[in-house]
Amino acid sequence: MKSQLFTFCLLIFGSLVAFAQPQYEIHLSSKLDNDLYYSISRNGRPLINESRLGFSGNVNLSNFLQHKGTTERRVHQVWHQPWGENKEIVNDYFETVTKFRGENGVKMTIRWRTFNDGIAFRYECIVPQTDNIIINDELTEFNFAEDATSWSIPANFDSYEFLYRKMPLSQLDNANTPMTVRTDSGIYICIHEAALTDFPEMTLRQTQGTRFQAQLAPNPDGYKARIEGNRFVSPWRVILITDSAINLVNSNTILNLNEPCKIKGDLSWIRPMKYIGVWWGMHLGIESWTMDERHGATTANAIRYIDFAAANNIDAVLFEGWNEGWETWGGRQNFDFTKPYADFDMDSVVRYAKTKGVALISHHETGGNVYNYEKQLKKTYRWLADYGIHCVKTGYAGGIPDKHSHHEQFTVRHYRKVVLTAAKYHLMLDVHEPIKPTGIRRTYPNMMTREGVRGMEWNAWSEGNPPEHTEILPFTRMIAGPLDYTPGTFDILFEKTKDSPLHQKWNDNDKGNSRVHTTLCKQLANWVILYSPLQMASDMIEHYEGHPAFQFFRDYNPDCDWSRALQGEIGEYIVLVRRAGNDFFLGATTNEEARTLTVPLDFLTTGKTYEATIYADAPDAHWETNPIAYVISKQTVTAADVLTVTLAAGGGQAISFHEK
Ligand code: NOJ
Ligand code: CA
Repeated sequence: MKSQLFTFCLLIFGSLVAFAQPQYEIHLSSKLDNDLYYSISRNGRPLINESRLGFSGNVNLSNFLQHKGTTERRVHQVWHQPWGENKEIVNDYFETVTKFRGENGVKMTIRWRTFNDGIAFRYECIVPQTDNIIINDELTEFNFAEDATSWSIPANFDSYEFLYRKMPLSQLDNANTPMTVRTDSGIYICIHEAALTDFPEMTLRQTQGTRFQAQLAPNPDGYKARIEGNRFVSPWRVILITDSAINLVNSNTILNLNEPCKIKGDLSWIRPMKYIGVWWGMHLGIESWTMDERHGATTANAIRYIDFAAANNIDAVLFEGWNEGWETWGGRQNFDFTKPYADFDMDSVVRYAKTKGVALISHHETGGNVYNYEKQLKKTYRWLADYGIHCVKTGYAGGIPDKHSHHEQFTVRHYRKVVLTAAKYHLMLDVHEPIKPTGIRRTYPNMMTREGVRGMEWNAWSEGNPPEHTEILPFTRMIAGPLDYTPGTFDILFEKTKDSPLHQKWNDNDKGNSRVHTTLCKQLANWVILYSPLQMASDMIEHYEGHPAFQFFRDYNPDCDWSRALQGEIGEYIVLVRRAGNDFFLGATTNEEARTLTVPLDFLTTGKTYEATIYADAPDAHWETNPIAYVISKQTVTAADVLTVTLAAGGGQAISFHEK
């Protein structure tokens, strides 16, 4: 077949002012031979070499295609969301739609969008005269033009709770997305997907050298996706391309590729919240989820937590282990989501919280038993709505029945069903052991936050997360969306609990010597950096009681309007600022290296004066040997000032700016 070449070229404007990024040129070309290919270059330098497109399955969606025309358009929109890192978002792209006709009347359209920070494409397929389309494999490739340094977690279809690996692309067998790479010439590329709602997740598999192919999470029967009907639209395949690490953090492209909000009417029940929870004690082993002598979620404890929240400007409280079913933990889970334990008096807890103006977050650990959860979903959500509860934390710690995995199409459909049902009953969601974020929060803003990360809990019962972990996350996992990492553990060395025989017993069973691998001030800074619209202070309230540094969380406003990563390098350090109303909150953290950074305050509103409260590592602080040492100081500042931010090894600094 004659080879046809289509080229689309776009000069990128607009990046100059917003991101201080020089004007550059991304060039996309597509080639149709027997098969279909694309390649990408930037300023004449190849980034992605000829890479295949298409699918294999019960219909031919990859070759014997004929080009049937191309249309182009430029789109510029400004849209708003009820919450987010930024409430106002500019969506500016150049779209190229190429249409193909294949065997037996198959219609395949590839929709390309070029943004100032990357390129995305998706497949839109119609297969006449069929009842279902089976996808055996996705053929999409990302054939990197040169070797580069990569940061990724392994491709695993059940979990994202891994440490990141930094290694040359050429040595990587597989990776989950977002996978971020830095070329020798200083270009940053991040591969991810957007708008994953009815498809298996995409991971990457190395097929040769620096060539990767999409590897979809399989159904137990071996196929990857099954579409009922004769058409489907794939999730977006996204290649972010920037010339600084922080511009990856500042990208809104994943959100822009999702559909506008589909929840109609009043959205006031959707609101960012700060929360505490009966939680950390269980992970340390000194409290329990089951109703025994260590039971955490008792009525008395609930009242204590509600009182603490009310006294400390905290919006909500989470209770885990409040419902029946924890006794069989580790087996096939059959939790009852409307049956509180006998020592948790739901009615009086709800009544008490109302009088104190504190919201409750209910907890639904499914143990992975999605059938059991779906069976109770509507009844449970109605029960919560009747109590006036608007937030649920779900969890899937355990195998999905019938050999299904957490990340395949079957389970993606389950997660979506939960989001839609929750929206109906005005419930916000915080999902643990989730499917990774792909921006669907734009469409369903009740999908607030999720785990999908090796979070704080790992510090309680394993060798923990090393200092650099949270300097990698903003440039990898967080490009996908918010994360419920649950920062804020103040008892860094578990000094207040480690002599408890219960904690010791727990540790003996696991790795022992557990602790948090940061300074105290880094915990504060992570409340700002590790963005979650439901932001938790993870420690037990006893450890905050009367602590001067807890003032930062009291003042912190999770409902930010605007955010900007100011400085940073992957796995090394990051400085990030968010504005909420008239206040600003800045977080800066570093890996194991102590460093001093110069931070101009030009993000502050010109002409205004602010009181900055600075929570800094003490001069002799060190994450390993002296993690708690901190100094709190106050300074009057304006946008013309420049701060010197000194960070201890494994340390951090948090600053709140309050308009005077
Ligand atoms: C794992 C979750 O990540 C954690 O937050 C929760 O406490 C436990 N599962 C129990 O549900
Ligand atoms: Ca987890």
